[in-house]
Amino acid sequence: MNIRPRINRWTPARRDLNFGHSIISCLVQPHFVVAGSGVDQEISSMPGINRQSVDVLLSTIAKDMAMGITAHMLFPVVDSHDKDSTASKASSQDMPLQQAVKQLKSKYGKDIVLMTDVCLCTATDHGHCGIVHNHEIDNDLTIPELCKIAQSHAEAGADYVSASDMMDGRVKAIRTTLESAGLVNTGILSYSVKYASSFYGPFRDAASSAPSFGDRGSHQMDIRSGYDEAILEAVSDEAEGADIIMVKPALTYLDVVRQVSDAVARPVAVYNVSGEYSMVMAATPDEESRAKMVREIFHSFKRAGADVIVSYHTREAVAGNWLN
Ligand code: PBG
Repeated sequence: MNIRPRINRWTPARRDLNFGHSIISCLVQPHFVVAGSGVDQEISSMPGINRQSVDVLLSTIAKDMAMGITAHMLFPVVDSHDKDSTASKASSQDMPLQQAVKQLKSKYGKDIVLMTDVCLCTATDHGHCGIVHNHEIDNDLTIPELCKIAQSHAEAGADYVSASDMMDGRVKAIRTTLESAGLVNTGILSYSVKYASSFYGPFRDAASSAPSFGDRGSHQMDIRSGYDEAILEAVSDEAEGADIIMVKPALTYLDVVRQVSDAVARPVAVYNVSGEYSMVMAATPDEESRAKMVREIFHSFKRAGADVIVSYHTREAVAGNWLN
């Protein structure tokens, strides 16, 4: 089966995330997961966001859950000695990301919504999102690797595997892989409309995933591209079986969010990316001014048609009661 609308309804927490009308219910908090124990490293370009080992992450998420933040997106940060040209470690159940998913799911079960980043870039020694062959990022050699990573996340218990790589045809391949492994309740959040943006800089510091040569222009969308290509990407991912369609970045593409949300039937997510977060942090000297700015930004996402908002501001917005 290609399309399983029940995936987004599978748990009350998934239903709140996708279909709730309040801003709080649609927020997703991102996290960076590293190896080791007791690790809680600040990221200088992203004040307030840390890289955490599984034990620390569990206590962070415990506090988040107690405040009512139930949706979490996990990014792996892979030690350089675990990186290679094919990202082979990314699909190992021993990695901190898979361990975190297992532990969080055994603790919270259906009360938590866990999304996991599926891409090669954090685990390749060259930092590219795919397999490099003849100095190019090879689409079709990358797909099987993405499928392995997605399956390992789903087996660990992820609610949504989040394909951020921008290879052609990967949603269909991941769907087929999940179906043949019997993982029929796992959803796919597709970064369908992801631009080759200059707003990802702080994230690449955080995840140590910057490409060592070249750029991401051959797979991520051209920033000059018009609505036709955005709709083509969104509609084809929807047909391939994506359960949530993402547009990224958010602030500079709100017009695209509106176009995409009018064109697809599945929930639409926006990613309020690292550079957008850092800009707001740099522009606001105190909590009061930040609260107002973030509230205004979140309403702009909703107005553009976003059902789900992934934002590094989630925790402070919920903790500070900024959204009432
Ligand atoms: C991995 C990935 C990136 C982001 C999310 N997943 C970086 C990239 O494409 O280089 C960016 C997130 C952010 O900037 O907050 N491919």
